[in-house]
Formats: sequence, C-alpha cells, structure tokens
Amino acid sequence: MRTDIAQPIRLKDYRPPDWLVETVHLDVSLHPTQTKVRATLALRPNPLAAAAPLVLDGDDLTLASLKLDGTALPAESYAATPDNLTIPQPPHRPFVLEIETLVDPSANTQLSGLYRSSGTYCTQCEAEGFRRITYFPDRPDVMAVYTTRIEADKKEAPVLLANGNLTDSGELPAGRHFAVWHDPHPKPAYLFALVGGDLACVEDKFRTMSGRDVKLRIYVEHGKEERCGYAMDSLKRAMRWDEEKFGREYDLEIFMIVAVSDFNMGAMENKGLNVFNDKYVLASADTATDGDFAGIEAVIAHEYFHNWTGNRITCRDWFQLCLKEGLTVFRDQEFSADMRSRPVKRIADVRALRAAQFVEDAGPLAHPVRPETYKEINNFYTATVYEKGAEVVRMVLTLIGPEKFRAGMDLYFTRHDGEAATVEQFIQCFADASGRDMAQFMRWYSQAGTPEVTVAGRFDAAAKTFTLEAKQTVPPTPGQPDKVPMVIPLALGLVGKNGRDLPLALADGRTIERGVLVLSEPSQSATFTGVAERPVLSLNRGFSAPIQLDTDLNGDDLAFLAAHDRDPFNRWQALQTISMRLLIDNVERLRAGKAPRSDDKLMVALAAILEDAKLEPAFVALSLVPPGEGDVAREIGRDIDPDAIFRACKALRAEIGERSRRLYARRKKRRPA
Ligand code: SER
Ligand code: ZN
Repeated sequence: MRTDIAQPIRLKDYRPPDWLVETVHLDVSLHPTQTKVRATLALRPNPLAAAAPLVLDGDDLTLASLKLDGTALPAESYAATPDNLTIPQPPHRPFVLEIETLVDPSANTQLSGLYRSSGTYCTQCEAEGFRRITYFPDRPDVMAVYTTRIEADKKEAPVLLANGNLTDSGELPAGRHFAVWHDPHPKPAYLFALVGGDLACVEDKFRTMSGRDVKLRIYVEHGKEERCGYAMDSLKRAMRWDEEKFGREYDLEIFMIVAVSDFNMGAMENKGLNVFNDKYVLASADTATDGDFAGIEAVIAHEYFHNWTGNRITCRDWFQLCLKEGLTVFRDQEFSADMRSRPVKRIADVRALRAAQFVEDAGPLAHPVRPETYKEINNFYTATVYEKGAEVVRMVLTLIGPEKFRAGMDLYFTRHDGEAATVEQFIQCFADASGRDMAQFMRWYSQAGTPEVTVAGRFDAAAKTFTLEAKQTVPPTPGQPDKVPMVIPLALGLVGKNGRDLPLALADGRTIERGVLVLSEPSQSATFTGVAERPVLSLNRGFSAPIQLDTDLNGDDLAFLAAHDRDPFNRWQALQTISMRLLIDNVERLRAGKAPRSDDKLMVALAAILEDAKLEPAFVALSLVPPGEGDVAREIGRDIDPDAIFRACKALRAEIGERSRRLYARRKKRRPA
C-alpha cells in the first residue's frame, strides 16, 4: 500500500459527493487475463453540491472506451490515468456514462478487485477494490442500484453469480454463456461482488418471519459439499435469531455464500453474495475442533448480520467503519452467547480483547475507535475498530438497559434504512429512545487508550454503610497527550457472607439502575446504606466496561468471589486475579534465584470449581486455565523477563494439572460424556 506518498485523509474534511449514481449496469466478460468490463452509470449532480468536474476513482485501470449519453467523448474532453478518470466540464444535469475497461484477474495478487483463486473468478471490493474493476466514485456514501451481466466460457465457469436476484441466463455462441443479476437495494460499491467458476452447490431454504421462502446456497470446490453442513445450519439459526432479537428479516429471494481458499480477510458481507475464506465454512467432525465450529458459527452470523448493519445502513465514510463493524461484532457475540454459553462466550471475548486490543491501545499503534485521519484505510481493520467498537455498543446497552436499547436499534433501522450514516446518528437514536444525554459517552469514539480505574471500598459497621471511592484516568496515546474523563458503566454487587447480593441503596436516595454505577468524573464516591455486614465488592461484572481495573480486594475476598459470586464472569476473573498475583510474585522469585511458591487458597478454589457439578464443563475448563505468558507480560508492562515469566507460568500449569488430576477423574465419572 502506498502509504509513503499518500496524503492523510481527515474526518473533518468530509464533503458530500459532487455526483451521485442512480444505477449501475455492469457487463463483465470473464477471461483469465483480459476481462472486459463495460460499466453504464446513470449519474446526476448532487443537489447539495455546486457544479463540479466529474472525478472518478481508478486503481491500475486501462480505459478502452468512453461514451457520454451514447456518444464517444473526444480525447480533449476527458483525462484517464490508471488512478482517475476526469471530465473537467460535464453537463450539469443527469447523464449516462459508458466506460469500458480491461482487467487482468490472473495478475491480480493483491486479492482486491477482480482476481482468481484456484481458477475461480471472484471479487473483493472493501474497502477500495471496486475502483480496480471500473472507474467509479468509490466512496460508501454513493449508493446505487446494480444490475450485473456476466458472461464466461461455460466449461471454465459454469456458475455465474452476482448480488441480488437472478433475472436472466442463457447460452451464447462459441461455448460461452451468461447470467444477469439485479439487486434492487441501493448499495455502496464496496458491497459489489461477482463470482464465476466451476463450483459445487449445497442448497437449503429458509422461511422468513413474513412467510417468504429464501433459497440458501453455499458454493464450494467439488468434493467439499459434505463439509458445509455446520455452516448452513449456522446460517439458518442466524437468520432466525436476527428476526427474533432485532426484528430484521432477509430481503432478497436468495442468499449465497462462496468459499474460496485465497482471501485476505475472514469473510465479506457483499449483498446477497458473501465470500468467505473457506476455513470459516468447511468443517468435518473428524478433524475440526470446538474452536473451529465456534469460529464458523460466529463468522457466518457476522456476515449475515451485516445485511442490516452495514448494507441496508452503511457508513458515510471510512472513518465510520466501527459503525458497521463494532455493531456487527456486538451482534455476532450476542448470537453466539444465545446459541452457546453466555458466560463462556463473554470470557473468551474478553480474553481476546485483552490479548489484542488492550495491547494495541497501550502501544505505538493506539488509535480511537473512530480514527480522525488515515493514509490507508486497509490499516484500520483493527481490534480497536472491531472489538473495542463492539464493547462501546455493549456499554450503550448496559447504560440504558435492554428495552431502551432495542427501541434505539429499532429507531436506527427506521430512521436510517437505505442511508450512509455516522456514529453520531447511531448514538443519537439511543439518546432519543432513552432520554439520556450521550454527549460525554461519545468520547469512547474519539479518545484512544484503555481507561484505568482504581476502586477502594470502606465498610462502616456502626453507620452500616459501604463507601466506594473510584478514580479514573486515561493514559496518553500517540497524538493525544491529555485525556478527559469517560462515562464508565460499572456493573457491581455487594456480596454478603451467605454469597447472596445485598440490596443496593445509595445514601443520597438515588437508586442504582440494574446494579450499574456510572462513573463520569476523574474521581467520585458512592455510599450504600443499610449494609449490615462487611460485604465483598464484585466490580465490573460481566466486564461491563473495557477498562483496566485495580481494586483493593485481598486474597480471601477474591477466593470468596471465585466460590460465590453470582456473576460467572467475576468468578473467573477472581481466579485469574489470584493467579496473576501469584505469577508476578513468582517471576520476581525466579529472577532472584528462588523457587516459585504455590498458593493453597488458589488450589482449593480451583478444586471447588472442578467439583461443582452444576457448572458447565466449558466454564470449568476456562477456569482451570491460568493467565498465559502474554497476559503476565502485559500486566508487568515494562522490563519483562520472558524466561522467568515462562518458567512461572509453566510451574503453575504443572501444579494445577497435578493437583486436579484426581478430582478431574472423579468429575468425569459423575458426568458421562
Ligand atoms: N467487512 C468484512 C467483515 O468484517 C471485512 O473483514 O466482515
Ligand atoms: Zn464485519
């Protein structure tokens, strides 16, 4: 990517497009090295913009011919380079432009634009690949209705697919054939796709909530049909779930997935024609792990959910990438949580967030969930945009509660369907649905860095109060030396001696909604009244905010939470915190030439989890996994000693393995597989 010469693009410089495109007719004649593309664009001046030249984007393109309203344009009235097609003085009225370009799919090793993967023609247009197929205003706020005619050698490519519904197909002379696809839903160019090849097809169907039958097809290499079963099942469950949880129904006659072996990203949500890296489609029970199945289910759902969050409502510009990705990751996380175990899914997601995003946020590449400048947008498909972006949506839910969250989502779908939207417009829907001012909350989109929150609790037996003092800071990140306080929703509980939560009543008479205390100041305190016994504070339950939390809980408190907290995430977290303290201590000991010590309380707590027959096996398994080398290194932060960390982790893993072996055998006997 030419980041060396590229000028930075800035969010604050956004201007609406000068020209809009009503319809696109593409006529693509597939050939391994010389594919002909004729694009017929119905253009009109944007009523919001002044008269302007027409400048279309290109990338590595060769222009073969150009016509305006059916007449070839004289050479002096336009300029074509590989990167641009410019008509300095276009008519200031709607007109039709016919552009012919030649592209070489076999030479395209960038896997952006039209390329071949194991002999199959396919496309990848996000973020800026469409301009490698034809000249176009390649920006997501230009949404058009596409009709695509593909022709090819019938032997080479018996299957011809594009977005939308099939409207025509037939034979042509010289062993060629064609298919015409029409997509009635306006979309940005990055959602365009076509596929041509000799592929096998697995077919199924889905009846939508309004009773329409939708054809479902998964295309794979011949011989791999058997391995599509789980992907197809996941797709049907995702379609049903989006109807039930978000009221979103599918909107074409057919939904297709194509699995290819060469693909840069996990998968791509092209309208009606998702293209997948085949590792997220193919699985057989003989070789696939639990993780492989979970990955297929999540990615199939993610791409399907984009149909509403990304496609029907898209992004105004690439700065808003988190608008579709953060929201869609949140949706796929919720789907997996509903399909599987919610606590196990949450723990897995938080582990991944800490391992990838927290590290990004703490290093030289730290950037806000919505960046304000970029040179190359492909470098911003990051853990911050995707995973932290999902956490920000989850915090909206935590702040306003499930009913108002759903009302806000409904409002977003009604208000912005068919539009290219912004993060402000999205968040405004929740402000309107809940009556809550979200202005300060918007800092989650603009301030990089993981907030650090320190909490101390004080029990006053005479006054029967429990007071919590919280301080927050956001560390400096590149380009952002000074930070302002964030809105941090802390789900909490005061756990009594019997393991039950004590009622939460604030001293100032305010109620604390759904157990969520909201921090918004650099430091603040909250006093709970009517607290008859010393409680143990369970904080940031369910990882309600993506923060680095430091509490004054001692080892006994943590062991108590590990055994009794009604929030399973914090049971797991308590075990992790105990183990982390031990590991860091042992790293020091090893560096000083001493033997690592063991922690009996930790072993007792782990044994209790292993012996608790009510707990799900996957939760027990996660609980027995102590923090890894990367986690410990992250916690220590600087001047790390990889060898000491490795030896400390290895010693703890060995001890857990050794001490739980007997208990594990007992558990297995009790719970036949
Ligand atoms: N838009 C694609 C996705 O996230 C790119 O990876 O699903
Ligand atoms: Zn996505």
